[in-house]
Amino acid sequence: MQMFDLLVNISPKQKVFLSAVRAAMEQCFGADQRRIDHALQVSRYAGKLLPYIEADPVLTLTSAYLHDIGIHEAERKHGSNAGNWQELEGPPIASAILAELGAECRFIELVAEIVGNHHTSCAVDSAEFRIIWDADALVNFAEVLPAKSAEQVEALLRRHMVTEAGFQIARKLFLEEGKS
Ligand SMILES: [Fe+2]
Repeated sequence: MQMFDLLVNISPKQKVFLSAVRAAMEQCFGADQRRIDHALQVSRYAGKLLPYIEADPVLTLTSAYLHDIGIHEAERKHGSNAGNWQELEGPPIASAILAELGAECRFIELVAEIVGNHHTSCAVDSAEFRIIWDADALVNFAEVLPAKSAEQVEALLRRHMVTEAGFQIARKLFLEEGKS
């Protein structure tokens, strides 16, 4: 898996596990390529943030792959992909996937906690949660920020981003490159 920075320490065994998580996510989303692409983009940004932030890379990347895993179930059961329904429906699906892959209970609990709170600002006080929050924002903001002025973008990023590295990448993407 070449997508993650060399500075991030991931053992060959962990890489195999992460590939299996990714494959399970893709299988779960099936033909919904948009969701798969989103999860992959978020995991790529999480991988970019990891060298700057002391966090567990396997927990972070697993959570990145699975953070939106409840979206189909939210739509099916509640007719909505609103954040609160995703937070409700995601953890059992993420937990089942990880149990199937033989993950440890504590690890599954930690992923479920991130998946179950990923639309709630500062809900979990952990570096892994902050990375998912910012990585998700880096992907989602690409759709909404181009319509805003530089001042609005700056203010929004200052309010929203929760890691220094995420904030700096966002500034580069949406203020420097976006305006050139
Ligand atoms: Fe997301």
